[in-house]
Amino acid sequence: MKTLFAITLAVLTFVSCTSQQPSKDVEKKNKLILYYSQTGATKTVAEEIKNQLEADIEAIEVETAYDGDFNQTIERCQKEMASGETPALKPIKANIADYDTIFIGYPIWFGTYAMPIAALVKAEQFEGKTIVPFCTFGSGGLQSSTNDLKTALPKANIVEGYGVRGIRLDAVPDEVNRFLIEWGHKEGEIEALPAFMEEKPVTDTEKEIFNQACSDYQFPLGTPVTVATRETSSSTDYLFTATSKGQQGEDQTSHIYVTVSKNEPNAKPVFTQVVR
Ligand SMILES: Cc1cc2nc3c(=O)[nH]c(=O)nc-3n(C[C@H](O)[C@H](O)[C@H](O)COP(=O)(O)O)c2cc1C
Repeated sequence: MKTLFAITLAVLTFVSCTSQQPSKDVEKKNKLILYYSQTGATKTVAEEIKNQLEADIEAIEVETAYDGDFNQTIERCQKEMASGETPALKPIKANIADYDTIFIGYPIWFGTYAMPIAALVKAEQFEGKTIVPFCTFGSGGLQSSTNDLKTALPKANIVEGYGVRGIRLDAVPDEVNRFLIEWGHKEGEIEALPAFMEEKPVTDTEKEIFNQACSDYQFPLGTPVTVATRETSSSTDYLFTATSKGQQGEDQTSHIYVTVSKNEPNAKPVFTQVVR
């Protein structure tokens, strides 16, 4: 009797494993989230993507961590960038070959992906993979880092990415949901956002909105010249074109996205991203 019970249990266990495992495996194996995060912002985004998708996730770690203060990291990073030397990484457990789509996450360092990602793209084989960049930043860098990934990985398909300021992590769950649906990574419905209207010279009121959004940022973001606006159900959005002087005194143009929430009265304007 005991033997019959053991055999039945073994058969049932086998059946239940084989009936559940394969479909889960196929879904899960397809997508991988690989990310580096020094101070936790990018980790928050990576985990949110993982919450909303069937995907495996792995943090990239460097052998000698960037664990000093901000200035030490800046100094080490500048040295590495100047010499072209990338940091040694701890071995990655995931087998990249098992995945079709790889979300690669990083903080922006000096306008591009952080040095551990420079090491990752050098060391691993991403040919034929779909790469979805995501990043966190003080002011911006999604576009420039995406372009740099395209240069570094010419045989990969680098698609539209997601970027958010490190001080706007509260917005991440909703924005990641929109991003994943909009670009076909998961199913769902989202409000279709209207395009920005045509650019017009900024009015004094719009200059004030720009100043409220940008004046407490640690670096000056320039003088707004023109603006395009759009209305959504939850916000009024502004796309400012601003001019400033670059490091060598050259004229620079930046596009600065500012949003004002309609969900709270007298909401402070915040800038969401600078694109140079
Ligand atoms: C070395 C270094 C360079 C940085 N360079 C930029 C930059 O060029 N542009 C920017 O917007 N933020 C820059 N930042 C800010 C980080 O991108 C931002 O704090 C990010 O959210 C940190 O992500 P993490 O918490 O995942 O490490 C820099 C930070 C460091 C440490």
